[in-house]
Amino acid sequence: MITLTTLSASDTRPLRQQLLRQGVPLDQLVYDGDDDADALHLGALDGEALVGIASVVRQSPAVSNGTPAHHPNPHSPHAWRIRGMAVLPDYRAQGVGKLLLLRCIDYAFEMQGRFIWCDARIHARGFYEKYGLRVMGEVYDVPNVGQHYYMQRDLARVCE
Ligand SMILES: CC(C)(COP(=O)(O)OP(=O)(O)OC[C@H]1O[C@@H](n2cnc3c(N)ncnc32)[C@H](O)[C@@H]1OP(=O)(O)O)[C@@H](O)C(=O)NCCC(=O)NCCS
Repeated sequence: MITLTTLSASDTRPLRQQLLRQGVPLDQLVYDGDDDADALHLGALDGEALVGIASVVRQSPAVSNGTPAHHPNPHSPHAWRIRGMAVLPDYRAQGVGKLLLLRCIDYAFEMQGRFIWCDARIHARGFYEKYGLRVMGEVYDVPNVGQHYYMQRDLARVCE
């Protein structure tokens, strides 16, 4: 059975490296906001084995290179960013990502967030869409990582 646990930011970095940024040294996988007091880092556990990760931090969309020019509130202090979402290949398509993402959404809602956003790799667009995030703007490139969409969902209502 998969359970969720909270992690420190540093606990997430080996899987960030393995699943999202291969070849990048661990000390370069420190993301903005990682050590903020209200940042949440989640791990999905199969027994004691860490099989998935996700983080959610308070951060305005203005930091994204993909934030569309027509964004209504790019500097919002009530914005939460989902980041570093990844599941080990053998554990994909079994609902682990869903568990992680919904807990991130719930947390941002509990923290009085007004919306959540992420820079989504293009192949993950459908995953985020399942849980109400929508693409804003055009596809854009993140250097050394690939093409992304800026995606966002408001938190005015409780998630599924
Ligand atoms: C994206 C990722 C986190 C999804 O995790 P997962 O555990 O496989 O997802 P789940 O099994 O919880 O899927 C939940 C739902 O989303 C759907 N889904 C999952 N990945 C999808 C995708 N890439 N496109 C469309 N739908 C997807 C599933 O079919 C499932 O829908 P269902 O309930 O109707 O069957 C995982 O594929 C991954 O780690 N990818 C590599 C790292 C990565 O790219 N992370 C995203 C960075 S932006």
